Amino acid sequence: MLLPQAKESKVNENLSNKMALGKSIKMYLTIFIATTCIYMVLYQYHMSRQPLAANELVKHPEKSSSSSSSSSSYIASYLWAPPMLNNSSNSINTTMGQGLVQVHGPNATDTSSVSSSSSAASNSVSASGSSFYSTVSLPLTLSSASDANNKSISTTTTSTTTTTTTTVANAVVSATTTTTTTAQKLKTTTQPSHAHKSMVKAMGAVHKIRTTFVAVSEPPPLYIITPTYRRPEQLAELTRLGYTLKHVLNLLWLVIEDANKTNPLVAHTLDRIGVPYEYLVAPMPEQYKLTKRAKPRGVSNRNRGLDYLRANATEGVLYFADDDNTYDVNIFEQMRYTKKVSMWPVGLVTKTGVSSPIIREGKLDGYYDGWIGGRKYPVDMAGFAVSVKFLHERPHAKMPFKPGYEEDGFLRSLAPLQNNEIELLADECREILTWHTQTKKNPAALPFNQTRYGNTNLAFIEKLLVRP
Ligand code: UGA
Ligand code: MN
Repeated sequence: MLLPQAKESKVNENLSNKMALGKSIKMYLTIFIATTCIYMVLYQYHMSRQPLAANELVKHPEKSSSSSSSSSSYIASYLWAPPMLNNSSNSINTTMGQGLVQVHGPNATDTSSVSSSSSAASNSVSASGSSFYSTVSLPLTLSSASDANNKSISTTTTSTTTTTTTTVANAVVSATTTTTTTAQKLKTTTQPSHAHKSMVKAMGAVHKIRTTFVAVSEPPPLYIITPTYRRPEQLAELTRLGYTLKHVLNLLWLVIEDANKTNPLVAHTLDRIGVPYEYLVAPMPEQYKLTKRAKPRGVSNRNRGLDYLRANATEGVLYFADDDNTYDVNIFEQMRYTKKVSMWPVGLVTKTGVSSPIIREGKLDGYYDGWIGGRKYPVDMAGFAVSVKFLHERPHAKMPFKPGYEEDGFLRSLAPLQNNEIELLADECREILTWHTQTKKNPAALPFNQTRYGNTNLAFIEKLLVRP
């Protein structure tokens, strides 16, 4: 039997035990809640650094569903922003660079006779002999690197839709698959690289529940027609333009020289740049060469380009890019979705400093240019693009040999074309993304002194000079 004191101390002991227990529970609860909070904060931070989930990614509008307003193509331009400028760029570009071009270097072509495409241009001349040549398949006839050694020369211009799987936020791209078009057979597909596969695997293991990839359709092809001619600045101009074009996906560069035969130095430069290209020739007709008055520069070249497209292209967009101008790569992504004709401002044109469509209350309301000259379309060559489908619907459209009126003549030859069918790009002509820059003319290089420098490096670089 317990004494009352003992009983009391027992009660106290029980009480203090209960209190201690309560305290511990409270403490554990506090620790538990605090830990949960810390985990939640860490999880939020972790998630914020992960790639976007599929439903957060913006799917590029299919060509057919893209809206006609210029603002939609403007948004599109950011989606298809130059790969080099994206985080994901390197892998995209490498894949494309290797996949797109089947370049035949000097060794591969020394013995090859190269013929320009089978168009009916009367002033076009077949490139032949020791010229360099590249075979390009557009869009995205992907060939493996080993194909580059293939000596057969064939030009495949296919019109296909290739599905590319890509993450927008991450540096992973898997180029691939499929495609269906008008009875044209697509040669190959590129397998994802080993590095890519292991990366996908690793990512899959970590984020099993997150969709990391989203299918994006291939953008329509761009055909860039560049007239060029022999002069000391030629290789420098082509190099600068070429590396600009290297930022643009799904593009075929039609370099067309005002000459009777191709120049191996030009071909070598184009090979080195690595943009998919065709190098053709189209000399200016003699009658214009001999005139003392202004010459129609680059006209036979551009008409040759149009003939090429009529024979080889079915969709996409064409653009006349003189070799000496300056181009912001964003304009290429915007012009890509042109339905008929698109226009935008060109800087450094005439005394107005810029040539541009005038937009009033959202509508095309004339043109701003230092020289109107009775033209219906007083625009610069760098300021418009035309859809290939629309070109096919205007089989007689061509550029006139009329100095100062080349653009106007060509655009008029696309009639009927309503003003409200002209798409106004570059933020509805509020931005300047192309410039009519002109390179200072350089005198021809002095003759090389073989006796003095024959056994030096100068003997090599002397051969790289373009002499008029
Ligand atoms: C301006 C326009 O921007 C040209 O598009 C237009 O053809 C020319 O005027 C014109 O109206 O004659 P501009 O800078 O004055 O151009 O001319 P260039 O840059 O000297 O020539 C335009 C393009 O034609 C260049 O790509 C150039 O390489 C090529 N070109 C020039 C030839 O193919 N052959 C030539 O004899 C001269
Ligand atoms: Mn120029």
